[in-house]
Amino acid sequence: MRMYDLILKKKQGGELSTDEIRYMIEGFTEGSIPDYQMSAMTMAICFRGMTPRETVDLTLAMRDSGDVLDLSGIKGVKVDKHSTGGVGDKTSLALTPIIAALGVPVAKMSGRGLGHTGGTIDKLECFDGFTTALSEEQFAGNVNTIGIAIAGQTANLAPADKKLYALRDVTATVDQMSLIASSIMSKKLASGSDAIVLDVKTGNGAFMKKLEDSRALAKEMVSIGTMAGKKTVAVITDMDQPLGRAVGNSLEVREAIDTLRGEGPADFKEVVFALGSQMLMLAGRAADEKEARALMEGVIEDGSALDKFAQFVRAQGGDAAPVYDTSLLPVAGKTLEVTAKESGYVHRILAEDIGIACMTLGGGRETKESAIDLSVGIILEKKNGDAVSDGEVLATIYGNDDAKMQAAYEKIAHAYEIAKEPAAFVPVVREYIF
Ligand code: URA
Repeated sequence: MRMYDLILKKKQGGELSTDEIRYMIEGFTEGSIPDYQMSAMTMAICFRGMTPRETVDLTLAMRDSGDVLDLSGIKGVKVDKHSTGGVGDKTSLALTPIIAALGVPVAKMSGRGLGHTGGTIDKLECFDGFTTALSEEQFAGNVNTIGIAIAGQTANLAPADKKLYALRDVTATVDQMSLIASSIMSKKLASGSDAIVLDVKTGNGAFMKKLEDSRALAKEMVSIGTMAGKKTVAVITDMDQPLGRAVGNSLEVREAIDTLRGEGPADFKEVVFALGSQMLMLAGRAADEKEARALMEGVIEDGSALDKFAQFVRAQGGDAAPVYDTSLLPVAGKTLEVTAKESGYVHRILAEDIGIACMTLGGGRETKESAIDLSVGIILEKKNGDAVSDGEVLATIYGNDDAKMQAAYEKIAHAYEIAKEPAAFVPVVREYIF
């Protein structure tokens, strides 16, 4: 078999066999298929697509590229959660300690930022010393003892996806349904959890911009999960504006901590509670959504979710002091305000542009090797539906470099759409796919 022939076949719209997909993923993982051939293949997939059978084969080949964890020794239904990627999406940071504080074990694999969207691992690195490079024993041990572990792909879980994810990030090949579905589900199937809740974003800042595409992605992932014997549910949530008010690593960590203290923004809390309810119901911890929500409110009010977050940060080598004093988080030295040029109501905040503005500030990666600046970002002072007066502050930029901040300013000013008439309310949770 030759990778050249497989690229040609896909370029011409052909369907790759199970063996061809295995050959490609095994060769890419061990290094005999180079990045440039795999990049050509992913671009061909972007143009030609994959059948549901090819997508399942790709998922299973990536799952089997490394270890598949067996967490059956840990009692209780282990739940995992994953987002398709959004702007301001710090959901895992608040959600996982809430669920773990309720006694439901969370075994999660996370990624780094992808394209214009942020990643959980980058955010967690705001805590000095924090690592997601856990061995299989540490991962399972932490789930067992403190009820929560978040691993990166260094633990030899789905290494093919780790390599492919980094390549797609810098070759404009992220936003393809089969590539997203197989990327997410290969990790989820490798990490040993029993149940999976998927947060499928829809709208301008998501990889799937149209609701029908997000729905198709959700259905595809739920069917892969179910076929692999895992209870899987997807929640489609809004990404037509960034989630919450904070965009940028340390600012998002602060907002997640505020939420664990009961002080977070309403749209963010709603996404956390919608996903959390599904996790608690899948785990058999709550009978219905009403009970699940009451339980989650309880662990926020009594401080146990915040304490669980600190315990988790410490267990993975991090300094947990910022959990109780967010002023210790890295923060950029300069600020710049974006002000309204007219009065009216905010109708849309182009989330992708806000994500790109954050990357411009240094908060995301331009190449696989780029280092990111954890301290930069944007606080959205106004969100969809808010009334604004001419000259009022729409957003505050936190940066370390005047030229980058000016470039971000232009993007953010353009991202806000303001009109005279009040804006219709759009719920942040759109649909559930079971
Ligand atoms: N999240 C992932 O893990 N993979 C993707 O392809 C997109 C979002």
